[in-house]
Amino acid sequence: MSANDVLKGPVLETRGLTKEFRGFTAVDDVNLQVQEGHIHALIGPNGAGKTTVFNLLTKFLPPTRGEILYRGQPITSKKSNQIAQLGLVRSFQISAVFAHMTALENVRVALQRKLGTSFHFWKSEKSLDHLNERALELLDEVGLREYADTLTVEMPYGRKRALELATTLALDPTMMLLDEPTQGMGAEDVDRIVALIKRVSQGRTVLMVEHNLSVVSRLCDRITVLARGSVLAEGDYEAVSRNPLVREAYMGSDAAQEDGTEKEGAAV
Ligand SMILES: Nc1ncnc2c1ncn2[C@@H]1O[C@H](COP(=O)(O)OP(=O)(O)OP(=O)(O)O)[C@@H](O)[C@H]1O
Ligand SMILES: [Mg+2]
Repeated sequence: MSANDVLKGPVLETRGLTKEFRGFTAVDDVNLQVQEGHIHALIGPNGAGKTTVFNLLTKFLPPTRGEILYRGQPITSKKSNQIAQLGLVRSFQISAVFAHMTALENVRVALQRKLGTSFHFWKSEKSLDHLNERALELLDEVGLREYADTLTVEMPYGRKRALELATTLALDPTMMLLDEPTQGMGAEDVDRIVALIKRVSQGRTVLMVEHNLSVVSRLCDRITVLARGSVLAEGDYEAVSRNPLVREAYMGSDAAQEDGTEKEGAAV
C-alpha cells in the first residue's frame, strides 16, 4: 500500500458491521476496508457469512449494528438504487437477465435503467442508435459481440455470466461487487472470466466472493477470510494461505491440503 492509499482512505469500509438472525450472529463485528483499485476477495468456509455481508453492503438486508461507508460517506441507511447511483453496483445473477431477450436487448435494458425513467430522449431514433452503439461496445468488452442477436436462453452458461457482467458495466460502476463469478463453470470458462475480470477491473475497484482459490490467487490483491461471521485473517494470497488459523478453519474441506497447496478449482 502506498502513502497515497493511506491518505485517500478505503473506498468501501465497514465498522463493527453485525447481523443477527433471531439471536444467531451471522456477521459479527466486521471491520472491512477495501482500497481503491484493488480486487479484494471475501472468502471463508460455508456459512461464514460472506453472502450476508454482501447483502448488507448492497442493502438487501439491514444491519443489526454497525456502519458502512462508501468514499468516506455513510451509506448505512441508503437504499440499493441509491448506492448504485453512487457507483457501487452488485453484479446481478442470471435470474435478472431476461432469458427471452437477445444479449443486445439485455444490455440495452440495463443502459435504459441507468438513464432512469424520467429521461425519454432514447425514444428518439437517434438516441436509440446511440443506445445500440453503446450496448454493442459493452458486448465487445466482454467478448460477446458475436452473441448480440442470440437469445440469452440459448447462450452457453459461461457466456451468460459474461453477459451478466456486461449488464453490470452498463450501470457505469466505480466499484463492482461480484458474487461467485465463476460458480459452476468449467476450467475454460473460468479462465475466460478471470481474464475478463482483470480487464474490466482496470480503473475500478472490485469486491468478490469466490470459492475457487486458484481464481483468488490469480486475481486478488487482498483477501479477507471470514469464519463464523468474524474476520479470521486478512492479507495477500500468500500470507492468508500460510496462516494456520485459516488452514484450521478450512479443515475437513478439500481446500487446504496437507502440503498447503490448493487443488485447482477447490471449493472452500
Ligand atoms: N435469512 C436468514 N435467516 C436466518 N439465518 C440466516 C439467514 N441468512 C443466512 N443465515 C445464516 O447465517 C450464516 C451465514 O450465512 P451466509 O449465507 O452468509 O454464509 P456464506 O459464507 O455465504 O456461505 P456459503 O459459502 O455456503 O455461501 C449461516 O449459518 C446461515 O444459515
Ligand atoms: Mg454464500
